[in-house]
Amino acid sequence: MTRNTLCLSIALLASGTASPAGAPPVVRPGEIWPDDRGQHIQAHGGGIMKVGRTYYWFGEQRRQGLDPGRRYVSCYSSKDLVRWKFRGDAVDLADPEQLGPRWVLERPKVFHNRKSKQFVMYAHLDDARYKAARVAVLVSGKVTGPYRYVKSFRPLGRESRDIGQFIDDDGSAYLIFEDRPLKGFHIAKLSDDYMDVEKDVAVIRAPLEGGAVVHFEGLYYAIGSALTGWNPNPNKYATAEKLEGPWSEFKDIAPPETRTYGSQSTMMLKVAGKRATTVIFMADIWKPKTQWDSRYLWMPLEIGRGKLWLPEPSPWTLDVKSGRAEILK
Ligand code: GAL
Repeated sequence: MTRNTLCLSIALLASGTASPAGAPPVVRPGEIWPDDRGQHIQAHGGGIMKVGRTYYWFGEQRRQGLDPGRRYVSCYSSKDLVRWKFRGDAVDLADPEQLGPRWVLERPKVFHNRKSKQFVMYAHLDDARYKAARVAVLVSGKVTGPYRYVKSFRPLGRESRDIGQFIDDDGSAYLIFEDRPLKGFHIAKLSDDYMDVEKDVAVIRAPLEGGAVVHFEGLYYAIGSALTGWNPNPNKYATAEKLEGPWSEFKDIAPPETRTYGSQSTMMLKVAGKRATTVIFMADIWKPKTQWDSRYLWMPLEIGRGKLWLPEPSPWTLDVKSGRAEILK
């Protein structure tokens, strides 16, 4: 080993995701998650999509020193979902709708439209008081961006705050959005070109945000968090045989007193490998006063036969080829 590679190995080991040669890299929930530059990943309220064999993670870019008048969405890429390369800011945007100081661009999610070959990003667009309640649509011909702002609207004419993304096994694309006047959330199908929200598939009358859906062994599972702003609460799940419902009652995903171990859901990611399928619960541990230091809680879920449970956070490894996750006690 040369002096340089030795230094690099020591730096990577210290940074948390690396592991001794050959061993799979480790996910450490709640800790600093360094990217390829050794900097904490800034992809809050994020979403992940796959192009070929590469995963892309988009999220709120909240590093220190940003222009306070602009909003940014970061992009990272990875082949193993653990070691992430920073690909730059996919969005670098000035207030597009005169929303005023402290305007909001949150929870970005990117959909790949195979027909138009465009990447279409949805994000929650709002003013400082969260009264506009709209979605923004941005487009790029390249997955990493830059994404061009196209328009904003209220999906199906409804107030929309937290959004989520669901791609079904048949490739159909859905936007999940919270609807405050309804005290519930929608799972709504996108139009063919993904530039619009076409129709409700399910309207679930449970006051939940941070909505996430996964299809696993013939059942749909939906997760959401209660409406407590940046403060964590007990996230809940329900199941349905069809996306349309009927949906079951909502139940806790973890001991309620842990308030989801201090986190809030943003997505469930299904990793189907050659031997197993792992569903990852992706959540944010928000630090509202120091957002650049907000952390991630990713854990493989115990899921199946209508039950879903978030194990107590602990370091774990993932092998995307086999689809196996292993929790290290
Ligand atoms: C939460 C929401 C976050 C952010 C925050 C602002 O309820 O999930 O994405 O909007 O409120 O208070």
